[in-house]
Amino acid sequence: MNILFIGDIFGRPGRDLVRRGLSVLVERFEADFVIANVENAAGGFGITREVCEAVAECGVDVMTTGNHVWDKKEALDYVATEARLLRPANYPVGAPGRGSLLARTTDGRGVGVINLMGRVFMAALDDPFAVALRELESFAGRTRVIIVDFHAEATSEKMAMGWHLDGKVTAVIGTHTHVQTADERLLPGGTAYLTDAGMTGPHDSIIGSQAEAVLARFRTGLPSRFEPATGNPRLHGALITTDEATGRATAIRRLAFSLDELEAMRAETRE
Ligand SMILES: [Fe+2]
Ligand SMILES: [Fe+2]
Repeated sequence: MNILFIGDIFGRPGRDLVRRGLSVLVERFEADFVIANVENAAGGFGITREVCEAVAECGVDVMTTGNHVWDKKEALDYVATEARLLRPANYPVGAPGRGSLLARTTDGRGVGVINLMGRVFMAALDDPFAVALRELESFAGRTRVIIVDFHAEATSEKMAMGWHLDGKVTAVIGTHTHVQTADERLLPGGTAYLTDAGMTGPHDSIIGSQAEAVLARFRTGLPSRFEPATGNPRLHGALITTDEATGRATAIRRLAFSLDELEAMRAETRE
């Protein structure tokens, strides 16, 4: 089974990349299932029903989030009504929505997805390492293919989660920093690992937002309004191949394409 993982979709430029490029990637890499992190999909901050439905329409099966999940107020109600939209599983009891899902490919094969958030340089949520094991148990006997989106800042915490879950899940893929790392690998127990999938959005920016406003905040310490940038849109993510019988990953490939490269791939596929 081939699973496509798309890194943080940022604003309209990110959604355009998915709309124009996802189907060609699915075709080219024979993807059976698509997961995307959508925490920045609505104007760079959060998620709305309209945006979530538009992303799903492009062929995304399950959507994960992170610290920006509640930025749009409507998400507080919406997340509880949309099963395909996850928020980190280690939010304390009382937070709306859910952090894991047993989804199915179009031909009925089970894929477990778990969304977790780190605690280093981030809000102090429940222990993601303990919650990961608890969530895993919910999939016991139901599927061996399990993909974890670990939304975290610190490389060390992400790598620790990779080793914590090695041999227990198909892949641990990091999100949140918006900068793709080049450390994709198979851990000894058969878990695919990548510290950060990167950002699907405008790369002539500071992690998605217009550079001037972010720079002004760093230089003056004063509040400034961040708007999504537009330049240099790139789709970032990873392709994970797994043996469904064991749930072990057999390969992981990092993906990074400009819009032009995606369009060229589409033209090639048509020939
Ligand atoms: Fe993000
Ligand atoms: Fe984030």
